[in-house]
This record gives sequence, C-alpha cells and structure tokens, in this order.
Amino acid sequence: MPKKVLVTHQLPGERIRELSRYCEMNVWMDTGLLSAEALREELAGCHGLLCLLTDRVDRELLDAVPTLEFVSSMSVGVDHVDVDALTARGIALGHTPGVLVDTTADTAMALMLAAARRVVEADHFVRMGNWTPQNAWAPDFFTGKDVSGATLGIIGLGDIGQAVARRAAGFGMEVLAWNRSPREVAGVTMVTLEELLARSDFVSVHVALNDGTRGLLDKKRIALMKADSVLVNTARGGIVDEAALAAALSSGRLAAAGIDVFEREPVAMDNPLLALPNVVVAPHIGSASIRTRARMADVAADNAIAALTGERMPCCFNPEVYGG
Ligand code: GLV
Ligand code: GLV
Repeated sequence: MPKKVLVTHQLPGERIRELSRYCEMNVWMDTGLLSAEALREELAGCHGLLCLLTDRVDRELLDAVPTLEFVSSMSVGVDHVDVDALTARGIALGHTPGVLVDTTADTAMALMLAAARRVVEADHFVRMGNWTPQNAWAPDFFTGKDVSGATLGIIGLGDIGQAVARRAAGFGMEVLAWNRSPREVAGVTMVTLEELLARSDFVSVHVALNDGTRGLLDKKRIALMKADSVLVNTARGGIVDEAALAAALSSGRLAAAGIDVFEREPVAMDNPLLALPNVVVAPHIGSASIRTRARMADVAADNAIAALTGERMPCCFNPEVYGG
C-alpha cells in the first residue's frame, strides 16, 4: 500500500510531480489557508505532511495523527512547528535553507533602501498628484538617509545575514554583526548586541524565531538603538516588539523601518506600524521570487521523497531522529 501524503497547497517546481510517484498524494486545492480543523481532518491516516509556514504543526495535531512519519515544510523557518514534539516521536522535519538565501537578502536590501530613501512615500506622493512646480526638486525635497557608507548592524550572521553583509560591502557600508555563537566572516566586525544597537545606522534582523529570540528587540533594546536609525526585519515578527517599535518611530527617535514580517500574519489593519509614513511594509515576501519559490518547493519535495524511500532528508532540521 502506498503511503499517504498531504500537500497543503498547490506548489510550483518540478519535483512535486516526482513526489506523486512515491505516494498517494492528496493536494489541498482550495486557495487560502487551511484551518487547524481542516488540517487535522485532511491529515488523518497520512504518513507524511508537506506544508507551508502558515500551517501549525503542534502537539494536538500530532496526537490526532499517530500515523505521521515525516513533515516537510516549504520554508527555512520552523517556528510554526513544535520541533521538540516531533523529535520526541521520531518524526523527521524537513525545511528549505540555502535556496532562499540570496532572494531574502535582496529583500532586506530592498526594504533598507526603500525605508532610507522614502521610496514608497515618494511613490504615493507622485500618484496623488502632489508633485507640483511649487515643490519640484527643492533641495530638501524627499531627502532621506544615505545607505552608502553607513554602518549596518546584522543581528544573526547565518547564511542570510552573511549574504546581506556581502551586499552591504558593495554599498561601502561598515558591517557589524552579533551572533549567539561566535562567527568569523571577512569584512564583518563581531560585537555585542548592545554595541551593535548603539553604533548602527541600519539594523537588519536575521535570526530564527525560537524561545531564545522571541522578543529579542524589546522596548529596552530598541531604546539602545542609535537616534535616527532604521530597522529592517525580514526574519520573523515575534523577534521585535511591534508596539515598542511603533512608539520609537512615531516619536521620531528612529528614522524609519522596513518590515516584511509581523507578530500576527496577516497583519491587523489597526497595527500602529501601518499608520506611520516612515514604515515600509510588505506581506512576508522575503523569499518570494518565482525561481526561489520553485526551488523551495523542489527541496521540500525532495525531503519528502527521501523520507518515503527510507533515506535521510537532504535538509533535515532535526537529524537527531536518525540516531546520529
Ligand atoms: C520564510 O519566511 C521561510 O521561513 O522560508
Ligand atoms: C539630480 O537629478 C541632479 O541632476 O543633481
């Protein structure tokens, strides 16, 4: 009997077709999110789950689906998954690092440049018909902050953080970084988190969300940020205290922010960040290039195929399940 695998969304890429040769594959065809109840119902009796970061994989779900042998998430982040609960049950968890590194670093640079140079504000201004002979090319017209030559602080110097550092070098930036474990990267000065916040004109967040990083940029740490600095977050919303960030931005202590991820997604329309003209927002699109999304789907499919054929997943988040 072929094993049953639930795929919670129609996926791009080539490998997903290959996956269907190894299992009885059930693809959730509705657009929109799968509710927790629907996920539990659809997953009943399944051996594998290929999911997105919008699907919560918690203890309750695992208890309801004792047949589950593997989970493959089409994401690098796994904060939507109770990893300890999976590992305790010997369930392998696949994710998709590597393939999205450059695309996500590009997004961080895009938000940094957009926030610093007021690109979105300026776009609205032109479309609203506000560009008139009275203000055209006044010397202080839409002046922002220079990215070139500024100091960038990278919080989390993993693959994406390092890719941002390489881009920043091209902008002639001085690059500081903080990482939980020591890292040695050419052209990057490792500092404490406090020193990074105090010295950086731009701060970009690239740590994973977990118990150690939840609320890492809280009110106290945001208060340490250099006056007139810019925060960019393409990692996860829960790492930054949104209320404290909004307060710092509206009081003018921080110059601007570029925010791709929120504590709650989709973001609520009464989120104070949305009311601020000096905040550029995006709907969690860090890895959203056509090519990268296809590659992520391919890695997710390959992780699932490996699990179905008794191999180690090529990108396993909890390799302890293989017993060393
Ligand atoms: C995107 O946020 C991912 O985790 O892949
Ligand atoms: C800008 O467009 C300039 O010519 O200085």
